[in-house]
Amino acid sequence: MKKILDLMENRLKQAFEAAGYESSYAKVVLSNRPDLCEYQCNGAMAAAKAYHKKPIDIANQVVEALGDGGEMFSMAQAVMPGFINLKLAEGFLARYMEEMAEAYKLGLEEPEKKETIIVDYGGANVAKPLHVGHLRSAVIGECVKRLGTFMGHQVIGDVHLGDWGLQMGLIIEELRDRKPELPYFDPNHTGPYPEEAPFTISELEEIYPAASAKSKTDEAFKDRAHEATLKLQQGYEPFRAIWRHIIRVSVSDLKKNYQSLDVTFDLWKGESDADPYIPKLIEILEGKGLLKESQGAMVVEVAKDTDTKEVPPCLIRKSDGAALYATSDLGTIIEREEDFHPDRYIYVVDKRQEMHFVQVFRVAKMAGIVKEETPMIFLGFGTMNGKDGKPFKTREGGVMRLERLIGEIDEAVYERIMENRTVDEEEARKTAKIVGLAALKYGDLSNQAAKDYVFDVDRFISFEGNTGPYILYTIVRIKSILSKAAEAGAVGQTGEILPAAGAGEKSLMLQIARFSEVMEGAFEEMAPHKICQYIYELANRFNSFYHDTKILTEEDAGRRSSYIALISLTKTVLETCIHVLGFEAPDRM
Ligand code: ARG
Repeated sequence: MKKILDLMENRLKQAFEAAGYESSYAKVVLSNRPDLCEYQCNGAMAAAKAYHKKPIDIANQVVEALGDGGEMFSMAQAVMPGFINLKLAEGFLARYMEEMAEAYKLGLEEPEKKETIIVDYGGANVAKPLHVGHLRSAVIGECVKRLGTFMGHQVIGDVHLGDWGLQMGLIIEELRDRKPELPYFDPNHTGPYPEEAPFTISELEEIYPAASAKSKTDEAFKDRAHEATLKLQQGYEPFRAIWRHIIRVSVSDLKKNYQSLDVTFDLWKGESDADPYIPKLIEILEGKGLLKESQGAMVVEVAKDTDTKEVPPCLIRKSDGAALYATSDLGTIIEREEDFHPDRYIYVVDKRQEMHFVQVFRVAKMAGIVKEETPMIFLGFGTMNGKDGKPFKTREGGVMRLERLIGEIDEAVYERIMENRTVDEEEARKTAKIVGLAALKYGDLSNQAAKDYVFDVDRFISFEGNTGPYILYTIVRIKSILSKAAEAGAVGQTGEILPAAGAGEKSLMLQIARFSEVMEGAFEEMAPHKICQYIYELANRFNSFYHDTKILTEEDAGRRSSYIALISLTKTVLETCIHVLGFEAPDRM
């Protein structure tokens, strides 16, 4: 289905041509004076310069040439100094609503080219508990993945675990100190290692912070951890065996956590999976003469003359041979190229890592690992702060665990539901989970990703204002009207939508009509907050329509049925959008 803006623009193109002007001037945009019109075309202003005429004369000629007879426009007016103000005809808009309701994906057009897109998000580190720092990556990344899929692309989400770094050596050495009798530490051990992990997840979670703290005061311990990491990376079997246990125990816990966020990944790859590709990487870089020696390390110089700030060389290999962050990202890119030939890469990572990605992307292109024209997008996000404006902490000042954060939100929502409602406890608990997740995700996604934002539970869980629960509340309200209508047998659903009878109804339709344009824009700009803005406005318009209109008691059966069809379409649009954002609505709340 053509976007409504395009339909209008096509009509105006004909008019510009008929009046003797280039059709390229016929751009139609949303009105910036909603009191005067719904849409506008400013093309006559630009054309005036090219044709050396007065803008208003051109605008008048175009309006005359439009000769639309009220079919698409109920108003097309040339106003000083040369704008063309437009209002859509109610009949045209109503038919557009009907078509949307019938169409696959609400009429969204398939992309010109179906792309294979890698979204790298989550980025959890094995053996370290998920904390709020990983929350944003998971929430934004999941939305980007769903949005790309909805647009019609093949999107592959990869969690890209941190599973190859120093934390592994720290855990191994801490384990040695605690349980020296384990066979992994016995150089004379022969035969296979135990099937069972030498720790539970709660032990593991306690081991890492302890080891990390120890390494800060105990130099010798730190050196041992470095050495153990290196040995692990070089393939020392006893350490590989421990490492496999760490991964298994930790990943099953991570999966539980991501599941409670309704976040899923197609690939559970990690930095370690890049390891087999490193020799190839070095070979490519050497072949291209890109590797340079610098202070005992191998680097690729990536600075460009056009850089406005310093871009340091990308560190590929240090003298001790330990794996480096950039090296493993480059190895991963080789793997992704071999496995998927992606048309686009999107990395959803803390914006403080931007320089790392600038370097990695440049090396990938200079080395010809990724085609010059393939977009590599860094979607960097800001920090989640507490009300004090500092990075979010627990009340005791520690790093907030994700599980606990979710638990606290669910509890707050639960209390709110129990306060004013008489649903039973079990239902309230279930609903609280659904609403809590919406509060959390919407609270994040409604901000521009790159900006820091303040995590404010009280605001996020409010049923009023620009919040997830408000959107859900609106959907639940529509669901309840629809089920009452069905009960009363008052539906008489023909699917027919009549031309809007009032301003509120039309304004609701106009907002619905923007759906495809908004989704495409949000995808192009990688901007989930645009979807939030859109549904917030849609929910507002629905609620004021609902406030002013007797839907179920409308006497005219045709009108009543039309209302029902319209609000049911509103619900579909809202539900489609929240699904893309990554949450769902309950039946009641
Ligand atoms: N594990 C990293 C961290 O916690 C994030 C990984 C981001 N993705 C990537 N391809 N480097 O900082």
